[in-house]
Amino acid sequence: SSMEALSLYPPMSPPVILTQDELKKIAAYKAVEFVESGMVLGLGTGSTAKHAVDRIGELLRQGKLSNIIGIPTSKKTQEQALSLGIPLSDLDNHPNIDLAIDGADEVDPHLNLVKGRGGSLLREKMVEGACKKFVCIVDESKLVKYLGGSGLAMPVEVVPFCWKFTANKLQNLFEDSGCVAKLRNDYKGEPFVTDNGNYIVDLYLKKDMGDLQVASDAILRIAGVVEHGMFLDMATTAIIAGELGITIKNK
Ligand code: 5RP
Repeated sequence: SSMEALSLYPPMSPPVILTQDELKKIAAYKAVEFVESGMVLGLGTGSTAKHAVDRIGELLRQGKLSNIIGIPTSKKTQEQALSLGIPLSDLDNHPNIDLAIDGADEVDPHLNLVKGRGGSLLREKMVEGACKKFVCIVDESKLVKYLGGSGLAMPVEVVPFCWKFTANKLQNLFEDSGCVAKLRNDYKGEPFVTDNGNYIVDLYLKKDMGDLQVASDAILRIAGVVEHGMFLDMATTAIIAGELGITIKNK
């Protein structure tokens, strides 16, 4: 893998502290520089990806991009893209995607990701698994030494049927990592329901999961599990916006 600090922000005096949302926007705009007319694009979900979709809509409106087909990774992104006039399709009709741009909750040194705090991990994994290039856009707060290392949730999409049984299986699987499994609730205190009608069980880990491929396989072997939020060896590039500049890391 190669890593280069591509650009430094112009020197500013006195120093301007950028908000997390401004950093997300900087990473998103940088990623959209990789977009070319005629591309089939995977459109990510979340507050970072939202900036990228806005920017693509703006460039289309200005005539600086044309013939784009967007493949949204959630109903929310689909609505946003429709409101911006971005032509849309799906994986059934466009199984080969040129480029996907999406955020992440965690990025490890090998560009493995945790995604799904927004709850869109299944569609994201399907779309991003069908991409030639997957550019992950984050602010520097998302960088971790190991997946689960932020102390935030590692999400798993499960079928609603006997979700407690599945949650217990997941918790027991990572007993050695001090795992606590919790059903995700929405703002009303009801179970959060994904775009696919499923629930999310969030795993909280005190230690790393060991071999990630082994962990991934073990999770997917539990019958009630639909998909998990670890994106192993999928991102081809990470664009990381920090206070001092943008870092572009390639696989
Ligand atoms: C949604 C995701 C998002 O990309 C992830 O949660 C990052 O979100 P944000 O850009 O709002 O920080 O995986 O399922």
